[in-house]
Amino acid sequence: MTVRTRGARYAVRGGNALRGSVRISGAKNHVLAAMCASLLTDEDLILQNVPHISDVDSLSELLVSIGARVESLPDGSLLLNGAGVNVFEAPGELITENRASFQVMGPLLARHGYAASAPPGGDVIGQRPIDVHLAGFAAMGASVRREGERFVAHGPAGGRLAGARLFMDYPSVSGTQNVMMAAALAQGRSTLINAATEPEVQNLAHVLNSMGARISGIGTQLLTIDGVDSLHGATCRVMPDRIEAGTFAIAAAMTRGDVYLEDTPSEVMDALIAKLRDVGATVETTADTMHVRGPDDLRAISFQALPYPGLATDLHAPMAALLTQANGVSIIHERVFDNRMLYVGELRKMGAEIVSTGSSAIVSGPTPLHGAHVRALDVRAGAAVVLAALCANGQTIIDDVYHLDRGYSSLATKLGGLGADIERD
Ligand code: EPU
Repeated sequence: MTVRTRGARYAVRGGNALRGSVRISGAKNHVLAAMCASLLTDEDLILQNVPHISDVDSLSELLVSIGARVESLPDGSLLLNGAGVNVFEAPGELITENRASFQVMGPLLARHGYAASAPPGGDVIGQRPIDVHLAGFAAMGASVRREGERFVAHGPAGGRLAGARLFMDYPSVSGTQNVMMAAALAQGRSTLINAATEPEVQNLAHVLNSMGARISGIGTQLLTIDGVDSLHGATCRVMPDRIEAGTFAIAAAMTRGDVYLEDTPSEVMDALIAKLRDVGATVETTADTMHVRGPDDLRAISFQALPYPGLATDLHAPMAALLTQANGVSIIHERVFDNRMLYVGELRKMGAEIVSTGSSAIVSGPTPLHGAHVRALDVRAGAAVVLAALCANGQTIIDDVYHLDRGYSSLATKLGGLGADIERD
């Protein structure tokens, strides 16, 4: 399966309210971490509910390039096997495709005593350092250094990583995941203080426990990991994508639509649900569904994008698109990344009244949006322009939708199924 097409673009004609049902796919940020976890064992890890996104393709390619087996099964599951891994360095051209790939470091280091990688890629949404990952490896006894463009980590001479008590300077999502995977095979107990609590981190811990790891404190900022000698294979389901679900929920509210989201993790979406109700939407949930109806008049609100359980930074840009249609002045504070504002210029091309000052954006509405020629500048900035296009008068052409392919499974098809006029070419 190869999803990404560099030259692809969307043509969207706005004005249709979204109506109907849509099934949410597996979570990008869970599946990618779980794929890296397959390197911790010689046995098969089978992942079900894998989304059709290009980040899965590029990480699969990376895993195969270091000797792992990655196979799509007839039911759509992904079988991963790390028994044949014989290269302990992530190739530079593949590591820069996405950020999650850097999470091969922890498993390779823990299992083989050596790992190297170029700095990871991913969206250009801020400085995105990796000091939390590297400090975690060092605390467990690894020697970590930078050699030119590569990070190189050696385990302690002749031995395993040693469990450690470590304070994480920032509750980094992929940093917590990387260190947690390394600690799973370390000797003795590791305690991670100020760990990330995002649902994708929690669900990676559940995958690791299914493989025989002993992780407790899941969902809290204090994770305890009792290292084990080896891990075994497992079959696990990828959690549904709360960011994809959130994007569709926002689109439903913004277009004054009426949409049922199926296979949606509403129990980890409280912040978004609260904000959608604040703007005037009606939101009803069960444990795995959400029903969103948009109001005739949307209200302006203020919000902060925060680590979980705060409103996800990945929903900042889609919410900003919605607020262009709300009555009054909305203020958004971005507290996670320092460059989440790429969408602002693109929405302005469509007539939005929105300005950014540092880490904040001020949106005045409601503004009639008009079709324009815009770009998806990163995966979530891209989602924001798609949502704006659904409400715009006339046609919007969106270039560089390969960014959207990184994180949204069949976005145009799903939106089309809800009545949007959207074509991909
Ligand atoms: N940070 C540090 N030191 C580090 C790592 C991070 O200071 O060593 C800071 C960053 O500078 C940033 C903040 O911590 O300000 C958050 O970064 P974090 O490491 O938590 O994010 P990430 O692991 O790089 C993951 C997701 C992102 C999502 C963030 C926040 C993956 C592959 N990516 O990134 O997803 O926005 O967590 O929830 O899991 C997306 O899906 O569009 C996306 C960007």
